[in-house]
Amino acid sequence: MKLYRAALMHTPDNPFSAPGALQVQEDGGLLVEDGQILASGPYAQVRAAHPRAEAVDLRGGVLLPGFIDTHVHYPQVRVLGGLGMQLLEWLDRNTLPEEARLSDPGYARAVAREFLSALASNGTTTALVFGSHYASAMDEFFSEAAQTGLRVVAGQVVSDRMLRPELHTTPERAYAEGKALIERWHGVGRTLYAVTPRFSLSASEGILDACAALMQEFPDVRFTSHINENPREVQTVRELFPGARDYLDTYERAGLVTRRSVLAHNVHPTDRELGVMAAHRCTAAHCPCSNSALGSGLFPLRRHLQAGVHVSLGTDVGGGTGFSMLKEGLQAYFMQQLLGAAGEALDPAKLLYLATRAGAEALGLEDLTGDFSVGKAFDAVYLRPPEGSTLDTVLRHADSPGRVLADLFTLGTQQDVAQVWVGGDAVYRRAAAGQEVSV
Ligand code: GUN
Ligand code: ZN
Repeated sequence: MKLYRAALMHTPDNPFSAPGALQVQEDGGLLVEDGQILASGPYAQVRAAHPRAEAVDLRGGVLLPGFIDTHVHYPQVRVLGGLGMQLLEWLDRNTLPEEARLSDPGYARAVAREFLSALASNGTTTALVFGSHYASAMDEFFSEAAQTGLRVVAGQVVSDRMLRPELHTTPERAYAEGKALIERWHGVGRTLYAVTPRFSLSASEGILDACAALMQEFPDVRFTSHINENPREVQTVRELFPGARDYLDTYERAGLVTRRSVLAHNVHPTDRELGVMAAHRCTAAHCPCSNSALGSGLFPLRRHLQAGVHVSLGTDVGGGTGFSMLKEGLQAYFMQQLLGAAGEALDPAKLLYLATRAGAEALGLEDLTGDFSVGKAFDAVYLRPPEGSTLDTVLRHADSPGRVLADLFTLGTQQDVAQVWVGGDAVYRRAAAGQEVSV
């Protein structure tokens, strides 16, 4: 039994509907046994009730629930930084050539290791991961993920047109490979499976029906894809599906818009699409760094909220600009500021919720992770800036917990992530300071 002592912050309630949802213990205690939170509260109180628990002193930093990234591509870690293009050109020139290299399982394994290590070292403890087109690359990914201990929800990406021939499959093969992967990996350890057509532009009705067959056969697997990201993409989908009412309808007609569905981007939705997403309790994964880097547009968060659509946050590596959910939160904030009167003011509590609990809700994992309530898994990130860094200086002058959180989102980076746990297991620990050579 361990008693973690730190400044604690979390959002067990939704700050978009419950003002004051940020819960703070400036000198907090979290009692953890077998990876689960048994008690939480002021340190002195938890200590008095459990005098024999082994103390872990984390004073001097902030303990947050582990970040939950609800849209991130495993095969794209090495092609981050492809600036200067919009979506379809970026796919053709920057991204799909690299995705084809994952046909080699050894290459895929190396990429999977780099990807998982980047998640952990940025404080992400759960991720909805867009996988590779190759089933063999997914086996490599899932077995590497099992070794790290991270929670991953992931699946083979399927497409049967308009990418490049070596990335295409058929509906029959997509179904057969998906079924085999689900049977091998879904529910094994901390792994769940997500049925993943790349986007309607690259998916015929036949392959969407194959995805629907998997969703019906395995009622607990998740679903993810892209939607309404870029105007040229939206127009092409309209031409490819002349009978569909809009982009969402291409998924809806196949029965793929449900409580288990997470659709990335949705920068250009119609009111009908928002209404249907809300009615089916499907999530929009907002990826502001990607939307900015690819020039996709300004995400209408207010319209999503007003329609009642659940929204979570994703980095969209490698269309995005890195793995930091702190940076993603800051960019979400910027984007809403740039929308002026149409924007939704994102205070620090909302940013924390989007980066943690909202993701757990999107994945149906809110009883397990996303905040520090008693009974949840101990999934946590300990942020402690290196001494003398700008964030360290600024935090010393922060005059309220809300301001501390705002400072973390404004200035926090990978270098501030000191330790990370999933289910009580340490999955990352920053190397000791003092190794730097000064010049
Ligand atoms: N739409 C289809 N594939 C992709 C991808 O890899 N990244 C992004 N951002 N959008 C997509
Ligand atoms: Zn994406």
